[in-house]
Amino acid sequence: MPDPHEVRSMFARIAGTYDGLNRGLSMGVDQRWRRKTVAKAGALSGKRVLDLCCGTGDLSLLFAEQGAQVVGADFTHEMVSRAPGKAQRRRAAGSVVFVQGDAQALPVSSDHFDVASVAFGIRNVEDPARCLGEMWRALKPGGLALVLEFPPPGNNPIGQSFRLYFRHILPVIGGVVARDREAYRYLPRTVLAWPKPLVFTGWMQQAGFESVDFQTMTGGIACLHWGTKPATARAQAPAPRA
Ligand SMILES: C[S@@+](CC[C@H](N)C(=O)[O-])C[C@H]1O[C@@H](n2cnc3c(N)ncnc32)[C@H](O)[C@@H]1O
Repeated sequence: MPDPHEVRSMFARIAGTYDGLNRGLSMGVDQRWRRKTVAKAGALSGKRVLDLCCGTGDLSLLFAEQGAQVVGADFTHEMVSRAPGKAQRRRAAGSVVFVQGDAQALPVSSDHFDVASVAFGIRNVEDPARCLGEMWRALKPGGLALVLEFPPPGNNPIGQSFRLYFRHILPVIGGVVARDREAYRYLPRTVLAWPKPLVFTGWMQQAGFESVDFQTMTGGIACLHWGTKPATARAQAPAPRA
């Protein structure tokens, strides 16, 4: 289980190099995964979106560019404080505000948002079930939850290459560019410990979502999960898993 103090201090340390390393290491594919996440939500003009663990705001900004009214929240000041400057430079069609907050207990209204998202974030949260519970609570009945994550690499050739890259090459690059080899060892550790997509589907169902499904991308390197809050439901989320 990730220790929130360690997670926050690690993201605070790498915040300055986070975006550049993401783009460079994935050769821009990370933004393609985020765009697919946004596309899954359909027409977004005027829709309310809550983006949890928003980091430096990349997913939040893509939602805002489609005309959504976005609240991005992250508990690491050094990450989320970079987002408003990016929003100003990109002048999105919708609106976006960024707040510092914990994805397990956010000061946002219940039954309020059309979409709740989290990209590459829930894996870092101490209790992912509570995070799913917050998404459920914040969504309107019929609202859509979107979770983008790195599933554990499969045993196919792409998965095996990715495993090698993750374990041996990524920490070296992270060590040189971000001067933080340990942070880039943390990433493969948490990905390898993360549940496979079918198991996470069960977690979403236990959190109360229906029509839960997923799509793997780029040979299984990333996975987009989705589910809806039942149209008849109102904010008392099911009790979190023990
Ligand atoms: C890998 S970054 C992802 C950032 C962004 N969503 C993206 O797509 O680039 C993970 C983020 O999760 C945040 N985070 C981890 N645990 C959190 C929690 N309990 N509440 C809020 N943010 C959290 C970290 O601060 C970090 O910014």
